[in-house]
Amino acid sequence: MMFTLPKEVTIIEVGPRDGLQNEKNFVPTDIKKQFIQKLKSAGVKEMELTSFVSPKWVPQMSDAAEIVADTLTSHTRDMVLAPNRKGIDRVYATDCQAVATFVGVSQTFNKKNINKTTEESVAEIVPIIKELKGNGYFVRACISTAFYCPYEGKVDVNDTLKLCQAFVNAGADELSVADTIGMAAPHESFDVFKKLKDAFPETLITAHFHDTRKLALPNILAALQAGVDRFDTSAGGLGGCPFAPGAAGNAATEDVVYMLERMGISTNIDLQKLVEAIHLVKPHMTRTIESSYFQLNA
Ligand code: HMG
Ligand code: MG
Repeated sequence: MMFTLPKEVTIIEVGPRDGLQNEKNFVPTDIKKQFIQKLKSAGVKEMELTSFVSPKWVPQMSDAAEIVADTLTSHTRDMVLAPNRKGIDRVYATDCQAVATFVGVSQTFNKKNINKTTEESVAEIVPIIKELKGNGYFVRACISTAFYCPYEGKVDVNDTLKLCQAFVNAGADELSVADTIGMAAPHESFDVFKKLKDAFPETLITAHFHDTRKLALPNILAALQAGVDRFDTSAGGLGGCPFAPGAAGNAATEDVVYMLERMGISTNIDLQKLVEAIHLVKPHMTRTIESSYFQLNA
């Protein structure tokens, strides 16, 4: 191998949130809970459980409070998304201790997703992050359209870095940097993640790839070479943002785990239990599960 690889990688499972928010049908709450529990039994230690967003905008996540009440565990980092003050107040009403905020680098995407300009979102979220940190919360900042925007095209890496800097200054523990519509190529993944690792050495840097053009695995490999050892993935390759037209699901957890384990990189995730987790939600999906590992081992 021409580059140094980490011995271990952290998988952040986003299936219960990114995966199910974009499904046509509302997945029954009880199935979501079983899905989360099975993913935890597979060894997942960090997960996005759900999101406290407007139920009018994303009805699929309207059962967020019930999901959190029944699935939090002390040995895992269970995160929930929240876009604004109302979302944070709903989080405060739960026992959840880790919050993921989200903003797009691209103005048009952010407007479609959160109904604010990027600057308006930052102005709202920065004081909230400071407050969350003061209250002892883990804070993750999800940076959407870090590479390309479905409306504006290529995004300037300096704009991505500038937005990340605002969240790091506010005290965010983690930057989850996303190729929202799956348009990045491996050289771009390497370049952006190398710059992020150099610019923010004290911050957890996580890569979040959608797999629209089947480049998620090569992009993960490139990010690994840039020093990234944390990846957002979704069981079954489910996912997509309702306000990012053309976005396919996330990198499939099982394919990423398979690749990493084959490379001798430990993920601490049990592939067989992962397959069982996918079987739980599969009957409720309108899409097919396309991941290679699932197709070969279902
Ligand atoms: P808005 O309509 O501008 O908000 O939406 P508003 O403040 O005018 O409020 C309108 C109504 O929504 C009010 O209710 C509020 O109370 C309610 P009404 O008076 O009409 O009955 N409301 C809320 N209810 C519950 N929870 C809340 C909340 N906020 C307002 N938090 C808003 C603005 C941000 C709420 C809306 O745009 C929204 O919910 N957007 C979320 C979109 C979303 O969930 N997108 C997917 C997640 S991000 C993603 O997938 C990308 C990621 O995976 C990375 C990547 O791949 O790029 C992370
Ligand atoms: Mg996403």
